[in-house]
Amino acid sequence: MAARPPFTDSDTADEAVRATCDDATTCKRFATSKGYWKDPYVQHFVRSVGGTEGSGINRGYYALVRGVNHLLDAFIQKTECDCQIINLGAGLDTTFWRLKDENRLPRKYFEVDFPTVVARKIHNIKTKPPLSKPIIETHSTDSLLLDGHSLDSDRYCVIGADLRDISNLDEKLKKFQLNPEIPTLLLSECVLVYMTPAQSSSLVHWAADTFHTAMFINYEQVNMADRFGQVMIENLQRRLCNLAGVEVCQSLDSQKERFLKAGWEQADALDMMTVYGVLPQDDVERIEHLEFLDEKELLLQLLQHYSICWASKDKLKLGLSQVAF
Ligand SMILES: C[S@@+](CC[C@H](N)C(=O)[O-])C[C@H]1O[C@@H](n2cnc3c(N)ncnc32)[C@H](O)[C@@H]1O
Repeated sequence: MAARPPFTDSDTADEAVRATCDDATTCKRFATSKGYWKDPYVQHFVRSVGGTEGSGINRGYYALVRGVNHLLDAFIQKTECDCQIINLGAGLDTTFWRLKDENRLPRKYFEVDFPTVVARKIHNIKTKPPLSKPIIETHSTDSLLLDGHSLDSDRYCVIGADLRDISNLDEKLKKFQLNPEIPTLLLSECVLVYMTPAQSSSLVHWAADTFHTAMFINYEQVNMADRFGQVMIENLQRRLCNLAGVEVCQSLDSQKERFLKAGWEQADALDMMTVYGVLPQDDVERIEHLEFLDEKELLLQLLQHYSICWASKDKLKLGLSQVAF
């Protein structure tokens, strides 16, 4: 029998997807270093501050972070923190630390990503006290579980798993005390687009079947059938990164449809151009003075090619359908 080559095409493709978390975190660190928003934790996850000034990318990340936080914070308010959050494909995201600082932690905050990404995140947490201290402070016993591929404490849990393998995902989350009975927020930020439509559909279905009171926030590409969308696809393909789920990113309607078809009661979607226009305008004005924008057209195109879609189901009648901009 022929020996299996050390790397298959799918290994290479997954490696390129995993690398996107460094890009996202480096861009976020750069934007925070310029003062777009405050995040004292992101510096502990990536060394590089490299970014492009004047390109509009910082404003794009600003709209993403402010937009997603707006919905996430509204969910926490509706549930009065009596909830859990699952960040799917969390990468090096720092939301747990922000919520801890703001005294608004859910009962438990879960993160899932590929085991190698999780191993890096755990290494950073273990070696950097500003990251580990808040986890220890919110843990009541000595028995904090920490190994190379998972970390489990009372309020924060990081799990290494492939989101395309639903039964393994479900098993691991339950092993770490996921509670299907309490209001649950699922978040995916630039993640579903790396899975085929069938794979992301299974994930969205699983979430709708598992939780009776829940909200799903999905941020990713939209309007991808036009010329600019094509260029975005080609740029990523050059880095061997395939947008396997781009078919679902054709329009705001196709983004909403995937939730409605999977059993979610309600779905809304806005492109980031619209979100940018409805964010608190005093703060938008502040950030527009941070750097001179020499590529206005690029910013417009970027904002028109990303969207936030949010879906809910609300057996407990918490008013989740009112969460909006
Ligand atoms: C663009 S990054 C975004 C990271 C983070 N959500 C953020 O916005 O900072 C995409 C992340 O999704 C993860 N991801 C993509 N497909 C995945 C899968 N099938 N299973 C687990 N993680 C996945 C990648 O490893 C990566 O960390």
